[in-house]
Amino acid sequence: MSWDDTAPPPFVLLDDPLAYILAAHLRQRAVCTVLRRFATDRVASRAEADRVTAYLTGDLRLHHEDEDLDLYPALRRRALPEDGLGITLARLGEEHRQCAAMADIIGEALSARPADDTVHIYTAAGEAMQAYAASEMRHLALENGVVLALARIRLTRPDLKAISRGMKLRRGVDGA
Ligand SMILES: [Fe+2]
Ligand SMILES: [Fe+2]
Repeated sequence: MSWDDTAPPPFVLLDDPLAYILAAHLRQRAVCTVLRRFATDRVASRAEADRVTAYLTGDLRLHHEDEDLDLYPALRRRALPEDGLGITLARLGEEHRQCAAMADIIGEALSARPADDTVHIYTAAGEAMQAYAASEMRHLALENGVVLALARIRLTRPDLKAISRGMKLRRGVDGA
């Protein structure tokens, strides 16, 4: 994947919140690819390291809030018992907290020596990047394959409007 895949989805997509979340997942995959490359190469450029750190400590948190505060609660209200979503959503929510902790460790490693043009990736940081990427890829597969698939079926138009409003407010976007 190219570096451009790690750019944020356009705000106009917030009118279609499930599409925005899907686009955010593509971006997460692209960031995982970059982190795996960092871990393999044992080195990162300052520009790439800063961009990944900004993502892990910024937009990734917004994405977790989109899901924890807007998407998952709406789905909990609409899902049918046979969907069996309760345990899945509880697990995914817990993974957000674990993921944030790993992201903090990676962010600290990438920003430890901000004046250096090149960031050396030491063994522990590289292992954290590989572990984070593996865990995130599993998480994304479950969200795309189960959560978003059910959301498209179960959520109503007003549900989607409310999710869209929450996501816009979180980003300070007009029209919420
Ligand atoms: Fe997600
Ligand atoms: Fe998630």
